[in-house]
Amino acid sequence: MENSAVTTYPVISVISNRWSPRSFDPARLLDTDTIGSLFEAARWAPSASNEQPWRYLIGVNFNEEHRAILDCISESNGRWAQNAPLLIIAVGKTTRNDLPNRHFAHDVGLSLENLFLQAIGMGLHCHYMAGFSVDKVREALGVPEGFEPITAAAVGYKGSPDLLSDDLKEREQQGRQRKAFSDFVFSGNWEHPFPEL
Ligand SMILES: Cc1cc2nc3c(=O)[nH]c(=O)nc-3n(C[C@H](O)[C@H](O)[C@H](O)COP(=O)(O)O)c2cc1C
Repeated sequence: MENSAVTTYPVISVISNRWSPRSFDPARLLDTDTIGSLFEAARWAPSASNEQPWRYLIGVNFNEEHRAILDCISESNGRWAQNAPLLIIAVGKTTRNDLPNRHFAHDVGLSLENLFLQAIGMGLHCHYMAGFSVDKVREALGVPEGFEPITAAAVGYKGSPDLLSDDLKEREQQGRQRKAFSDFVFSGNWEHPFPEL
């Protein structure tokens, strides 16, 4: 698949096929079964004490709620995200039993990545976004105290890069880079790379 990860060791295809495109096809809308499968995948993520701290605000197929989310997304992300039929704001519940839940953001990430991998398996593409206004989300979408907007996401079918402006098209075609195993897999001591990788 286009832009698949070039891996040293084999990985399952939904992992190698996931990447972050900016070209989405606005003509291909999402049906309810598709959206259902995505949030089913999100629902079955693990979480500390099974707290399931994730909440999702969504806008679908360019409806009013889609516009409301787009209004919260930064201008630079909005240029391409506007064409994705599913826009998501992932929100986390920050406490468990009235005490801070140290793992709430971790668990929201697990849930959203479950959704992403399900999407890839269904031929969709996805792109995370940190570039959105937390304050606008809180105000416009009514997120209460005790909940933290964490990440925005765009999901849809891949569109032609020709739909993008030249600068975005160039970024779309840039190669993908990753750290070496020795930079992040340690054994026995910090900064002691696991020698077999
Ligand atoms: C939490 C998070 C926030 C991100 N925010 C943005 C963003 O605001 N805009 C953007 O274009 N990409 C964003 N990305 C995408 C990353 O740039 C991308 O995942 C990274 O460069 C690796 O590329 P790949 O996803 O194609 O493997 C974000 C990714 C994550 C996980």
